[in-house]
Amino acid sequence: MKDEKAVAARTAEGQPRALSVSSFRPHPSSFVLIGFMGSGKSSVGRRLASALRLPFIDLDSDIEKAAGMRISQIFAAIGEAEFRRCETEALRIVLGKPAVISSGGGLVTREENRALLRTAAQNGSHIVYLRAQADTLAGRIRRQPGTRPLIDGHDTPLDMEATRKRVRELLAERAAWYEDCATLTIDTDRLRADGVVSEIVRRLGENRNNQS
Ligand code: S3P
Repeated sequence: MKDEKAVAARTAEGQPRALSVSSFRPHPSSFVLIGFMGSGKSSVGRRLASALRLPFIDLDSDIEKAAGMRISQIFAAIGEAEFRRCETEALRIVLGKPAVISSGGGLVTREENRALLRTAAQNGSHIVYLRAQADTLAGRIRRQPGTRPLIDGHDTPLDMEATRKRVRELLAERAAWYEDCATLTIDTDRLRADGVVSEIVRRLGENRNNQS
């Protein structure tokens, strides 16, 4: 075995073989997916994690498991402020880990979270903003009624027009925060989850080539 290695390290002429690092896998990074409700963070996150062979962490699911309640129940029973506190705590625990982390759409509303994301980006994490138009998001949100307390409240789900209006208002408040925190922005309106993953991987490769 030792001899085989020694032989492989030499050319047929007995000269030391030139080392190639092109096949080295990069150090596993942390990817945080940010974006509005309905932007596909969870479905893209799961697929991206599998493509990059990294663990997948879904912050909302982790909070639901810890609380033993759905997000809508947490908002109704305990309130948004306590949910936001847990969200920051959960973010602090997972940030920087080699994993794909999907976050809740409101993560960027807290300055503390934005600062955490900025620091993570400086330390090499990729903060990926899945961007979409308000009407695209509203259409996707309406397909999962009753799961977004900030859109539907706790009663009857809004109709399509009212959903569009609410999404436009909230997106107008948040859009600049998503843009500011992102190290990579992907326009997802015309893409399915697999297409978004391919685009993320392609753009990361492009950025790496531009840096080298
Ligand atoms: C929220 C988004 C939700 C969830 C909560 C609040 C928001 O996550 O965290 O309902 O403020 O935008 P998704 O973006 O996964 O729907």
